[in-house]
Amino acid sequence: MEAFEKEFARSAGTRHCVAVASGTDALWLSLLAAGVGPGDEVVTVSHTCVPTAAAILQCGATPVLVDVDPATMTMDPACAARAITRRTKAILPVHLYGLCADLAALKSLARAKGLPLIEDCAQAAGAIFDGRPAGGHGLAGAFSFYPTKNLGALGDGGAVTTDDASFAARLRRLRFYGYEEAQVSREAGHNSRLDELQAAFLSISLKRLPSWIRSRREIAALYRDGFGDRLSCPGDAPLRRHAYHLFVARSSRRGALRRALAARGVETAVHYPVPVHRQRGYAPLCKIGPGGLAVTERLAREIVSLPLYPELRPGEVKRVVAAVRACA
Ligand SMILES: Cc1ncc(COP(=O)(O)O)c(C=O)c1O
Repeated sequence: MEAFEKEFARSAGTRHCVAVASGTDALWLSLLAAGVGPGDEVVTVSHTCVPTAAAILQCGATPVLVDVDPATMTMDPACAARAITRRTKAILPVHLYGLCADLAALKSLARAKGLPLIEDCAQAAGAIFDGRPAGGHGLAGAFSFYPTKNLGALGDGGAVTTDDASFAARLRRLRFYGYEEAQVSREAGHNSRLDELQAAFLSISLKRLPSWIRSRREIAALYRDGFGDRLSCPGDAPLRRHAYHLFVARSSRRGALRRALAARGVETAVHYPVPVHRQRGYAPLCKIGPGGLAVTERLAREIVSLPLYPELRPGEVKRVVAAVRACA
């Protein structure tokens, strides 16, 4: 595990990496180590997978959900700025689908307000912003190694990347009963270790990550060329290199499109059909930031994920392109 931590820190371009048991724990323990607790607010997005909000709630804090930029489907920095109050303790953008949020604007917002920036990099291993990998832009980057992710273990796993030595030391304590030395706790902690076997699998897979990202990007380029203007497909954005964890297009007639593609043997999915603020289990526990979530609501109705993983064969990519050209 320690060997993998060193290798992953190197690949993320950070001084430290603390491996933990899952991506949710990576977010939760990062927030705890940043001092987030009951009564605090953390600004994040509703257009994400629920663990982003679940990790904030696990600290006893309130997720304040803001809208996203329609072009990139990631946190709109102007909305984040409006949502900051006296209670705000952190800003938590999500690099959804493998595309970084606007880190230039969010870093300057965090700096101006004196708040830590914690990146949800669960979907963004291999993504780049302004020449620097995701996970090295704020106080911490939280990664998931769930098997379907860009870098997946054969079970659960996660990691936090950081340049801050005392933050990393606190994370190491929090993940292991608060131990400062063997059997001696400096503070109350938890059990969130990355299994040694998973770390060994991840060490091997990490060497392949660059070629997997290349394949993902090549397939995405073939899709974009092949679909033309039939489907709207966000790609690289200014300063950002997409890692294409998912290829998410938009269609105003999504249901019909999905049915027609299914009839041609092309499976699709929706990530995510219900935004966090509409989830029965989470809506009552979250606060919606000023201005509402109109873009998020619209995306939830229009987004559709097409098949994309490095092992997709050229013939299969052609089949998807032909099906979309026939249906969209
Ligand atoms: C955006 C986002 N954040 C956090 C997580 C949580 O990661 P994990 O499933 O490893 O706990 C996931 C993955 O499920 C995710 O997609």
